[in-house]
Amino acid sequence: MRLNKFLSACGVASRRKCDEVILEGKVFVNGKQISQVGLSINEKKDVVTLDGKTLALPKQFVYLKMNKPKGYACTASDERGRKTIFELVDCDVRLIHVGRLDYNTEGLIFLTNDGDFANLVTHPRFHFEKEYRVSVEGEMKESELAVLRNGVVENGVRMPKAKVKFLSFDGKNTKLSVVIDEGQNHQVRRMFDAIGRSIVLLKRVRIGDVLLGGLTRGKTKPMTAEEIAFFKGEK
Ligand code: URA
Repeated sequence: MRLNKFLSACGVASRRKCDEVILEGKVFVNGKQISQVGLSINEKKDVVTLDGKTLALPKQFVYLKMNKPKGYACTASDERGRKTIFELVDCDVRLIHVGRLDYNTEGLIFLTNDGDFANLVTHPRFHFEKEYRVSVEGEMKESELAVLRNGVVENGVRMPKAKVKFLSFDGKNTKLSVVIDEGQNHQVRRMFDAIGRSIVLLKRVRIGDVLLGGLTRGKTKPMTAEEIAFFKGEK
């Protein structure tokens, strides 16, 4: 088995990220530091360590969905000492987050120890939709929504198109549904920054066919077989 596949199956990260971990020289096979990608190992015999810990293939994969609260970082350990989403999960298995939500964004995020699944959900090739509820200060004009739909221009570069639906205006804030199928860093916030609008609340409510639903803020629950199958194409 390729080393990056093994690392990913052990829940280290997606396969692409595992290549980066290998290139950083953090992985040892039978005590020898590995610094090039593409190596194959015998997963039954070879001893693979990462940061001094021996890795083993998990017996069972875990797939959770979480309602991430605002004020939690999507990282295993935060350099700035902020709270992380892993403090909210009670699970013996080492998990990774699938994609990322900003510190101040809330809503749906998946956690798993299946690196291939993480790769599948986040890979740009598959274009899984992500739907957000966005509250924006003030009343937004139809012309502004049209600009968002066409792809805003940021520093001379056109950002991807978005599906944007007006939901309500309460006299103070406009509530919108925004659907994107790419996962650029801070994509939604950048779209609104580019048109000079300030986001008051950003919440992810759907990834692909999987809804946040009534999951309580800060809680996790196992994904159903059908939800997992949606991404793996086993439906
Ligand atoms: N877009 C953003 O700007 N932030 C998120 O957390 C997710 C999407």
